[in-house]
Amino acid sequence: MTSDKLSRRDMVRITGIGGAALFLSSCFPERAALFSTDAAEIPTREIPDIEIALTAIPDEVQILPGNKTTVWRYKGEVITGPAESLHIVPNSCLGPTFNVIKGQTIRVHFINGLPEKSIVHWHGLHVPVEADGHPRLAIEPGETYVYDFTVTDRAGTYWYHPHPHGRTGVQAYAGMAGLFIVHDKEEQRLGLPSGEYDLPIVIQDRSFDSDNQLIYGNRGMMDRMVGFLGNQILINGIADFNLSVSTHPYRLRLLNGSNSRIYKLAWDDNTPLTVIATDGGLLERPVQRDYITLAPAQRVELWVDFSQDEVGRGKNLINLPFDAIGGEFIYPLLRVNVEQLVKTSASLPDHLSTIAWQKESEAVNRRSPRGFQLALGQGMAWTLNGRTFEMEAVASDEIVRLGDLEIWEFENRGGSGMGMMGGMTLPHPIHVHSLQYQIIEREISPSNRGAWASLRDGFVDEGWHDTVLVMPGERVKILLKFEDYTGLYLYHCHNLEHEDMGMMRNFRVDA
Ligand code: C2O
Ligand code: CU
Repeated sequence: MTSDKLSRRDMVRITGIGGAALFLSSCFPERAALFSTDAAEIPTREIPDIEIALTAIPDEVQILPGNKTTVWRYKGEVITGPAESLHIVPNSCLGPTFNVIKGQTIRVHFINGLPEKSIVHWHGLHVPVEADGHPRLAIEPGETYVYDFTVTDRAGTYWYHPHPHGRTGVQAYAGMAGLFIVHDKEEQRLGLPSGEYDLPIVIQDRSFDSDNQLIYGNRGMMDRMVGFLGNQILINGIADFNLSVSTHPYRLRLLNGSNSRIYKLAWDDNTPLTVIATDGGLLERPVQRDYITLAPAQRVELWVDFSQDEVGRGKNLINLPFDAIGGEFIYPLLRVNVEQLVKTSASLPDHLSTIAWQKESEAVNRRSPRGFQLALGQGMAWTLNGRTFEMEAVASDEIVRLGDLEIWEFENRGGSGMGMMGGMTLPHPIHVHSLQYQIIEREISPSNRGAWASLRDGFVDEGWHDTVLVMPGERVKILLKFEDYTGLYLYHCHNLEHEDMGMMRNFRVDA
């Protein structure tokens, strides 16, 4: 097993393609040049509301004191449309945050300035297949991929990250991820905290060597079976993150952008957390939890009111211990300091949104008798119904009909009972591309109840989701509808090491 250190190995390749800055300017010249090269295609493309150039490049950023860290990151530029459509996260290697309004048409020119294949997936967004970032669409270094889609999703916190097969984990780990925030009219009427009171909190774990370079995969087989677990937390790409706030309510948009680490989030002063949104946007009404279980790729939005707090006080967002890998310790994620006194009369509305729920009774199909089995298969590979990823293949139980409402079940069964890892069970966060679903039922086997009970009060199953955590011994039922677009999409485990190993499959929507 080789230890992948981004620093040296990738440095070598980076020099091979020439400087990143040079690359950017030569590959993405003026607008006119972009269109004149393929005149035949122009008439079919309308002018979008927002047009963005998004480049993936190697870069160096100051994350820790001392040496800079070599990262791979997204950089963006608005070509047409409002300048605020992209927001740069200060001092961070995170990609720019997209800020769009439901109904807007978007064109993104993705320019691959990395020394290897890549492609961008818009996680959680309902987009046509050509815009979904399937690994078969991955482009070579130096190539450009053009995405065209209309934003049809509800106001919420979505995100984007790479999706080339077998390399999603390392590319995301190297720094390639960003938020995609959607606004709509329903949300605007609520007067939720905005501007400086609306903040992203992207939680990631990393490990650094003594030169401040990222370490990935150094535990070999273990990292791949279990998933990568770092020993340091970054918030918005920043180590030892401090948030200074005013005496005002805040909207905090939390994303678990880690490769495989699950968080059990709580305030250290024991105040409950108020959740206003999940993966697919606003809940009908706020809900409270003593702690929140946030699996990789999941988002929650919190309403946090500091208006009654004293200036000079503060609190920590911490991870509480739980009974699964990575849950051994209590540790801080970020420190909030109340630093400024401001006047406010803002309050949290008790009705947030109106949701047109799907009805379980109207579902037309169930996927295979016992649902999708999540298990360790032959050759130490995590599997979905005994299968691993094949680039173009779709099994007969992976074909759905456009317009159908279905019930899918995922059952986490554990290992084959053979070999060192036999009988191994791990939690799997299951993601379905291009849609939002409802979580309608969970069932836990009695022998796995302990670990489950250490996290279940933190599940926020209300609202819309694109990723659901399926604990060892658990069966989870979801209700999902295949609308608008036909073609080949993905469902997979969002533990990125599991995904890269092949715990991912196509499903196809047929007309
Ligand atoms: Cu965020 Cu296919 O993944
Ligand atoms: Cu998994």
